[in-house]
Amino acid sequence: MSEYISNVEAPFGLNHGPQITGNYAPIATEQTLQDLPVEGKIPQDLSGVYLRNGPNPRFEPKGSHHYFDGDGMIHSACFSNGKVVYRNRWIRTEGWLKNDAAGEEVHWGVMNTVKDSRDKPMNDVANTDVIGHAGYAVASWYLAGTPYIVDPISLSTVRAAPEYLAGHGKGMSAHVKVDERTGDLMYFDYFTEKPHMSYGVVNKAGELVHHVPIELPGDRLMHDMGVTTNYSILHDVPVYHDEDALRAGRHKIRFDSSLPIRFGVIPRFGKSDSIRWFEFSSCFLYHVVNSWEEGDEVVMVACRYMPAKKADGSIDEERTAKMIATLQMDARLWCYRMNLKTGATHEHCLNSEHNVEFPGFNSSYTGVRSEFAYLVDHDPRMLRWTGLRKMNTLTGESEADWSDGPENCWYSEPWFAPKDNAKAEDDGYVIIFCWNDANKTQQLQVFDAQNIGSGPVARITLPERVPPGFHACWMKPSQIATWPE
Ligand SMILES: [Fe+2]
Repeated sequence: MSEYISNVEAPFGLNHGPQITGNYAPIATEQTLQDLPVEGKIPQDLSGVYLRNGPNPRFEPKGSHHYFDGDGMIHSACFSNGKVVYRNRWIRTEGWLKNDAAGEEVHWGVMNTVKDSRDKPMNDVANTDVIGHAGYAVASWYLAGTPYIVDPISLSTVRAAPEYLAGHGKGMSAHVKVDERTGDLMYFDYFTEKPHMSYGVVNKAGELVHHVPIELPGDRLMHDMGVTTNYSILHDVPVYHDEDALRAGRHKIRFDSSLPIRFGVIPRFGKSDSIRWFEFSSCFLYHVVNSWEEGDEVVMVACRYMPAKKADGSIDEERTAKMIATLQMDARLWCYRMNLKTGATHEHCLNSEHNVEFPGFNSSYTGVRSEFAYLVDHDPRMLRWTGLRKMNTLTGESEADWSDGPENCWYSEPWFAPKDNAKAEDDGYVIIFCWNDANKTQQLQVFDAQNIGSGPVARITLPERVPPGFHACWMKPSQIATWPE
């Protein structure tokens, strides 16, 4: 293992762009830490594990570095009996093992090559999302790669799971959804060639039980999907690769405001031709909060990416594409409704005031009506989350918020953790990492989900910075094959 590089602002020098320096710089150690200093009290009725995936390049990149690049590393906080154990481990992907054997980075990043390039191979890093399924954590990659099965307690990589995949691209995108009532995992794959997308279901035993091609009008760069009890909601976004750049093996994206955003509602085990598409106002969409059925309607609550505007009020396509590519977020909580009987659509902004993204919620409500989401306030200038906010997904009301200091704090994606004997949707805690740049302190924070405005009930201090990353989840003991008790 290379030397300890914590608090070094540019461990790989300054030639790879700003997205790998300062607080974005990776860390070099894997640790298991317990008996950490605690301010407040870790609740006794909090049992399970918070997992957060993100990029953490182990070796100096080839060329410029993008947030999306870098070996996936999971940070975890495992709670039981009023105590917590923190761990961080790289996911041992095929690419990680190749780099390990070479002693250097042998892949190219997303700014320097394209997926499936033979000359400049990209690393399938599984660094984007993590979710509990069939007793283990599943790590996935936003460009659709091989899912990796990780032990949620030890964080050791159990195996790659190529048997989950079928179809043209044989990939699994980030943002797979797990229906915790049935154990089904729903996923999508996307690729530049026709038909451009596919959709699959892996059952609770880890068997691919359904897979169908989904025809799109062209190459698309969708990011998320929704599920309800009976349907899945697939996205067709007006964002795609610049064709000339793609042919030349370069990464450049376009936002086309002449196209609507479309959502395709397909029965969970539906055939390709059973999908029904619904059109909405042009925008990009990174993240879905939750979706459900109400009578004849399918409802999806999401963070709508607000296209940048020119002085005359028209959409600035170039600036929007650039903002999407660099993860400069300007998003609002938004409600989409699709009537399966009449074909009618309705969309409305739930809250115009707050730029919120990276939503967590009580994932036992996945696919059924839920009231609460826990999001981060977004610094629109860069990938930095300045505070925690609880929002009502039915009314759009901002119910509570907290920040240790919006100018100095870097939060992670929050996730809801139910109490051991929870009696209501928000009867539990919210878990989040917070790096405070003013005093150079890394904390793991636990909030009472019904009283976020009072601040953390427990602040656990970690000796090392947790670099900004992407997505998180919560797994209850009953969902964990290797839970120690
Ligand atoms: Fe994402």
